[in-house]
Formats: sequence, structure tokens, C-alpha cells
Amino acid sequence: MSMIIRGGKPLRGIVRCDGAKNAALPIMAGAILSEDISIIDSVPRLRDVETMSDMLRSIGVSVRMAGTSVRINPGKPLRHEAPYDLVRMMRASFLIMGPLLVRLGTAAVPLPGGCAIGQRPVDLHLKGFQAMGADITVEGGFIRARTKKLKGAEIYLDIPSVGATENIMMAGVGAEGVTVIENAAQEPEIVDLANFLNSMGAEVSGAGTSRIKIQGVKRLTGTRYSIIPDRIEASTYLVAGAVTRGKVMVENVIPTHVKSVLAKLKESGAHLLEGSRSVEIDMPSRPMPVNIKTLPYPGFPTDVQAPFMALLAFGQGTSLISETVFENRFNHAEELSRMGAKIKIEDSNAIIEGVPKLTGASLQATDLRAGACLSLAALAAEGKSEIFGTEHIYRGYSGFATKLRLLGADIEETDLPRRSYAKL
Ligand code: UD1
Repeated sequence: MSMIIRGGKPLRGIVRCDGAKNAALPIMAGAILSEDISIIDSVPRLRDVETMSDMLRSIGVSVRMAGTSVRINPGKPLRHEAPYDLVRMMRASFLIMGPLLVRLGTAAVPLPGGCAIGQRPVDLHLKGFQAMGADITVEGGFIRARTKKLKGAEIYLDIPSVGATENIMMAGVGAEGVTVIENAAQEPEIVDLANFLNSMGAEVSGAGTSRIKIQGVKRLTGTRYSIIPDRIEASTYLVAGAVTRGKVMVENVIPTHVKSVLAKLKESGAHLLEGSRSVEIDMPSRPMPVNIKTLPYPGFPTDVQAPFMALLAFGQGTSLISETVFENRFNHAEELSRMGAKIKIEDSNAIIEGVPKLTGASLQATDLRAGACLSLAALAAEGKSEIFGTEHIYRGYSGFATKLRLLGADIEETDLPRRSYAKL
């Protein structure tokens, strides 16, 4: 898939955010903790959501989507083994391990693509399950976990990993006794998962702080739950308004969830108007240079680092971005340079010397947020850009081109993603 963007038009108007992808994925996995049917509302129509649906179907769960609602019926006998082709596509597939351990006492999930335990991937998830009494082995590329009964434990996370906090929280809900997660991730999506689990009858407290306490319960019931708005999507459209020097009202955003991004936008010279569920941005001039360090929440989100770099590429001076959450997350910088941006990468730092203009080019989106970054840069650049690999964008932004078009952007798409949705 590719996208042709003719840049140089200030974006103006209103854009509405969808539900949070990063809340929808763990919540869909968590729904299988009960044998009853759950309905989840405000689920964004995204490729990652489809992948999670396929993942759940592959282990015997019935999943139906209608509009932005998903009905999950995990009543049938479940299979304990997740297929490689789905886990390979999405790291968040690993979130079914905790719920499967609770339901079946055994789970086999392939190692997420090309990673080894102990390096990048899922060691903290596994340490947590082990502390709760699970035996973990690696056989034929699969991580297998087995336990007679999960037991509550005190678990300290070396890094406040979002996925590990979620997986361990879900395992703790079905464990015997109390589980405590220290140095837990504090992202709003963690709080949303805890609220969802509590609506099923779980007893989770402290979510949103670094210490989460989970009192195991015997049985969870089905529920109906509506997930929070996507703060990364909201941030992206705010930056889109800023980079094109336009005026954009972003609706369905919880302003406290995007505080760090708003602070940096303000520092760059943007005028912001916060409502209770909206933020309006008005950017009068080229951005002032800004230094950013990505950090776990409430710090600046790593997922907004790439889109923000598009803005700083136009800065009136030199900005510094330090990426402390993920390694090798600067693929977009090279592509921005092909548009005329002046960016130097030194280890985990990007030094961005702002330039007055970028020019359109043929570009390759290597991942979801890089795709968003290049689109924003193309919207503000002079002339025509063609961005290849835009299927990555649809992993995380529903109706991306349509929403931008409603703000006045000139975007053409080739090969729109297609998918039919059944009725609930
Ligand atoms: C989630 C988000 C992703 C976001 C990231 C950080 C979802 C579906 N995805 O990803 O969009 O960019 O949080 O905000 O919610 N780590 C380990 N061992 C582990 C687990 C993680 O070393 O067992 C490391 C990772 O390599 C990374 C850091 O911890 O360097 C943070 O990762 P983590 O918070 O787990 O991210 P995800 O949950 O994968």
C-alpha cells in the first residue's frame, strides 16, 4: 500500500479520536479470563485489533465485531497453543499467555519474532509467571508455561514494562492469594485494563501507580466495557496541526493523558486550548527547538517520538531527542533526511537541526509510528511525496487518510485495507 500526499496546506478543522489500540489489545485478551460473553465498546477498527481477534479465534474463542463493538465468547473449550504466524505479526499477541495460564494451567506461545529470552523481548513477563509458580520451558520456538495453580507473589519489574505489567496483572486475577507488582507501568492503558478486570469481578487496586495489588478471585463474569480514547492518535493529530501551521481541534481525548506532549507542544510555540475531552492547537509560526526524552508514563511517550521529530525537523534551531525506551527507534530519521531534514543519530540520541522547508520525496514507512512521522512531514513539505508501506499505519490509526482529508489534506491512497465485519 502507498499514499500520495501533496503537502503545504495548513490543516484546519475537527478530528475525532477512536478508542485506544493499546487498551483494546490487552482488554480483548483479558476477556477470556471469564467463560462468559463480554462486549467491548469503542474498539478502534485497526489491523492489530483484527490480529488479536484472529489470535483469539485460533485458540477457540468466538469473536465478532460490529462497528466499534467486539463481542467475545470464550465459553468453548480453549486450545492452549497460539499460532506462530499471528504472534510474528504482533508482539502484543503474547498477552494471551497470562489469561491462558489462568484458564487452562498451560500455555504455549511462540517467541515473538527473532528474539531470545533475556535480551529484548518477554523475560519480565516470564519472570513474573515463574514467581507465581509456573514452569517455563522453550521447545521448538515456543515458550511453554505450565502450572497446577498460579499462586500470588511479590514481583519487582526491572523495567516498568507495559506488557509485563498487563500479563502479570491478568495472571494475578486468577491466582490463589495476593500478587503485588512493584515498579509497575503506570500508563493509562494499565488503568483501563484494571478497570475492565474489576468490572468482571476482579480485585485490582493501585493501577496507575508503581505498586499494583491483585487479590486473586475464583471466578470472573462477563461484562460490557468501553475503552479510553487513544492518546497516541490524539498526539499525532495535534502534531499534524502544528507541523502544517494550522488550527486543529482534537476531540475525544483526555487532556491529562497527553500532558507531556502538550507541554512540549507549548514549548515549541503552539497555542493550546484544553477542554474536558478536547484540545485545540493553533500554530502561528515555525516551531522553537525543543529537547525531548522518551520515558515510561507520565514521561514523554516513545510512540509520539517519531511524529514529533517531523515537527522538530522544521524547528528554528537545534533540538535533541533521547530515546530511552526502545533501541533502534530512529528509522524515520533517514527518510526525513531524504526530504531535506538535517538529522544526526548518535546512539540513542537524534540531533535535529531545524530547516525552513522540506521537499516531497518517495519514502518508505518501516513501522507504524515511522509511517505517521513521514505522513506528517509530507503534509508540511513542498510538493508531492509518495509513502510506501502505509499498511503499517493502519495497524494503529483507523481512518488515517480520511481523517486528515477532513482537515483539508491532499491525500490519495492505493489499495485501501478491506475487511468485512459481521454483526454482533
Ligand atoms: C507497549 C505498547 C507500545 C509502546 C510501549 C512503550 C502495547 C500493545 N504496546 O509495548 O506501543 O511503545 O508499550 O510505551 O501496549 N522489555 C524487556 N523485557 C520484557 C518486556 C519489555 O526488556 O519482558 C523492555 C523492552 O524491550 C523495551 C521496554 O522494556 O525496551 C519497554 O517495553 P514494554 O513497556 O514492555 O512495551 P510493550 O508492552 O511491548
